[in-house]
Amino acid sequence: MAPVLNVGIVGTGIFARDRHLPSYKEMSDNFKVVAAFNRTKAKALDFAKVAGIPEDHVYDNLDEIMNDKEVSFIDALLPAQFNLSTVQKAISAGKPVLLEKPIAATMAQAREIVKITDASDIPVGIAENWTYLTCIDLAKKHLARIGPVVGFTHNSTGPFNSTNKYLSTSWRQHPEHIGGFLSDGGVHQLALVIALLGEFGSVSALTRQVRKESGTDDIVFSTVQMKDNDVVGTFTYGSAFGATSKSVFLKIYGKNGSVVVDLSNKQQPTVSVTVGDSAETAGKEEVYQVEKDESFGVNPEFLNFHEAVAKKDKTLFKSSPRSAFHHLACVAAFLESSAKNGTTVEVETI
Ligand SMILES: NC(=O)c1ccc[n+]([C@@H]2O[C@H](COP(=O)([O-])OP(=O)(O)OC[C@H]3O[C@@H](n4cnc5c(N)ncnc54)[C@H](OP(=O)(O)O)[C@@H]3O)[C@@H](O)[C@H]2O)c1
Repeated sequence: MAPVLNVGIVGTGIFARDRHLPSYKEMSDNFKVVAAFNRTKAKALDFAKVAGIPEDHVYDNLDEIMNDKEVSFIDALLPAQFNLSTVQKAISAGKPVLLEKPIAATMAQAREIVKITDASDIPVGIAENWTYLTCIDLAKKHLARIGPVVGFTHNSTGPFNSTNKYLSTSWRQHPEHIGGFLSDGGVHQLALVIALLGEFGSVSALTRQVRKESGTDDIVFSTVQMKDNDVVGTFTYGSAFGATSKSVFLKIYGKNGSVVVDLSNKQQPTVSVTVGDSAETAGKEEVYQVEKDESFGVNPEFLNFHEAVAKKDKTLFKSSPRSAFHHLACVAAFLESSAKNGTTVEVETI
C-alpha cells in the first residue's frame, strides 16, 4: 500500500480551501494535511479547523513549517513572486515542495528555480494541473490517426466575470508576475497545447489590456512556430471580453484529418476526430466524451507528486520546473513580441 504522506500547506487562501484540501480529503489513503502556515494567521487557524490540523501545527513562519519533521512535503499556494524564496528554503530544509503556477513572477526568478532544482535531488513540482487533464491521453491516441500534424488553433476566450472569486485578490489586480492573467491562467492553456504538440520555438503576438481590474495586459492573439518541426498554429487567450460564450478548444489539423479537444463546457469535455485526407474521403465525425475529473487534473497531479516523493525520485513528476519554465517563457515571448509590434521572438530556452 502507498504510504500516507503528511502535507504542510503554505498559503491557506481560496484555492487551498476550495480545491487542494478537498482533493487531499478525497485521497485520504495517500495524504493527510497536518500543518499550515499563512501570512494572516487567523486565516490559517480557520483553515486548520476545517482540515483537522491541531492548533500547535499552525505555524508563525515558513521556517517552522519547513522544519516540522512530521511534514513529508510542502504544498505552497502563494503569489508567484514568493516561489523562489519558498523553494530555496525547502531545499535547505531537505523538504519536497509543490509550488503553484506560474513557476515564478519573472524569467530571472524562473531561471534561478530551474538552476537550484536541477542541482538538487529533492522533488520540486509546479502545480500546472492541466498537464493531467484526461483529454490529453485520449487526444494523443487519436492524433496518431490524423498525422502528420501541420497546424493548430488554440482558442480560450470568455466574458469578463466581475464576480469571479479569484479576480478580487489584490495580488491579481496588481500583479508582480509578468503577464498578469496571461501567465496566471495562460500557462494552463500552454500546458495543454504543449503536452499534445511539443514546445513553441518562436511567436509573433499582440497583447492588450481590456480591463483595468487585470492590472496589465489580459488578452493575447498570436501565431506560433513549433520548436522541433514545421508545425504552425495560433494561440488566443483572454477572459476579459464583453458578453460572449465561453469557448475553449484546441483544433489540430493533420494531413489525414483533424482532432478537436473542446473544453468549453468544463463538465463535459469532448474529443472529436475526423479522419480522411480530403473532403471526399472524410469519415464521419467521431465524438468521444472525456472521462470526468471533478478536480480538473489536481487529483492525478497530487498522486504523481506522491509517487515522486515516496520513491524519492524527482524525475517521476511530470510538471517539472523545466516544463513550467517553458510555459512562462512563452508568455514572456508574447509580451516581448507585442512590445515590438508583433515582431517574431524566439522563446527563451534553458
Ligand atoms: N491551478 C489552478 O487552477 C489555480 C487556481 C487558483 C489559484 N491557483 C494558485 O494558488 C495560489 C493561491 O491563489 P488563491 O486564488 O488561493 O489566492 P489567495 O486566496 O489570495 O491566496 C494567496 C495566499 O498567499 C498569501 N499571500 C499573499 N500575499 C502575500 C505576501 N505578500 N506574503 C506572504 N503571503 C502572501 C495570502 O496570505 P493572506 O491570507 O495573508 O493574504 C494567501 O494565503 C496562487 O499561486 C495561484 O496561482 C491555482
